[in-house]
Amino acid sequence: MAKLNWGMIGGGEGSQIGPAHRLSAGLDGLFSFVAGALDHNPEAGRRYAQELGVAADRAYGDWREMLQGENAREDRVDLVTVATPNSTHFEITKAFLEAGYHVLCEKPMTMTVEEGEDIVRIAQKSGKICAVNYGYTGYSLVRHMRAMIARGDLGRIRLVVTEFAHGHHADAADADNPRVRWRYDPAQAGVSAQFADCGIHALHMASFVTGQEVTKLSADCASLIESRVLEDDAMVNFRMDAGTVGRLWTSSVAIGRQHGLSIQVFGETGGLKWMQEQPNQLYYMPLNGRLQTIERGEENLSPEADRATRVTIGHAEGMPLAFANIYTDLAEVIGAKKEGRSPDPAANLYPKSEDGLRSMAAVAAVAQSGKEDGLWVDARPPMFR
Ligand code: NAI
Repeated sequence: MAKLNWGMIGGGEGSQIGPAHRLSAGLDGLFSFVAGALDHNPEAGRRYAQELGVAADRAYGDWREMLQGENAREDRVDLVTVATPNSTHFEITKAFLEAGYHVLCEKPMTMTVEEGEDIVRIAQKSGKICAVNYGYTGYSLVRHMRAMIARGDLGRIRLVVTEFAHGHHADAADADNPRVRWRYDPAQAGVSAQFADCGIHALHMASFVTGQEVTKLSADCASLIESRVLEDDAMVNFRMDAGTVGRLWTSSVAIGRQHGLSIQVFGETGGLKWMQEQPNQLYYMPLNGRLQTIERGEENLSPEADRATRVTIGHAEGMPLAFANIYTDLAEVIGAKKEGRSPDPAANLYPKSEDGLRSMAAVAAVAQSGKEDGLWVDARPPMFR
């Protein structure tokens, strides 16, 4: 397959997630990094893009300039990644989709449910891909978990328990640091802080592995550092459309925890446990059996797991390779569209704008329920009710 042209908005020098995207998109030789508007400071963005090997005429000062510049080219980018701060995702993603580009948008896809619905409609109308970077679903063993559940290894799923709890905003003395403070400020962060930042990864993961959507939820939100307006901790109970009961804990004050994403699924005939910080092992307990460790790369895993793995068993694979699997999926689907063929169905696992929208509906529901003492509220986007 011919290499695809890739461009990036945000992810400038010193950004948290920019390097992971560049590593992931470049890993399999499927994308060439040819264009970027990498920084909120136009000069810094132009300079850094060129340092990374982007030609001077495609090292843009801002995303509008990039859109105009790419529109004028025959060899325009095939895929644009949006890795800017949350409040800019909507306008950038919308503009590129409307102009006919495929987009991979960072989470949260938008700030509101209404914006999320707009993106879904625009993506559907344009026929372009709008993917959302729930990149942890790219891990081989997460995909294996999904495959095991889908083929019935656990029987009917009774319960899913998921966490995304870290301790990186636990220092009360640091709460006024501008790099931390904005995250808990409604004017900049919207209606939710920790749930919108991390909780949505855990909730999306619950849907991804079980194949079910969240229908309603009840949230207990807390600002454990009192100066914060928005929550830094939340416990969310939820229900899924095939009857599974869900529990989710997210926190940014859990001192001693680093990344802190994990998921457990309990069915009628077995249980599974996976943790992001040990992604090469999946723990499986069949009913009345013995605990088994499933290793990434071992023989006889599912095709979905095999497709998402690269090095042999015993060698650790980590987060950039999980993100790379999202890019591999996108390359396959975009390549198939260009070549007029059907894509490999196994590439259809990348998270989509509909998932981004569902997350925004969950964020709104958590904020409402948190304010109303844990009232159970509908967590589905209006357009999917
Ligand atoms: P950051 O603050 O470290 O970096 C943001 C970058 O975007 C900076 O280089 C900044 O100069 C640039 N930027 C800001 N406004 C811009 C604009 N209008 N045009 C072009 N560039 C602009 O932020 P971080 O942590 O890298 O987060 C970026 C996004 O990625 C956020 O939406 C965040 O939620 C998401 N994220 C996702 C993760 C995942 O696991 N999927 C993990 C970490 C972040």
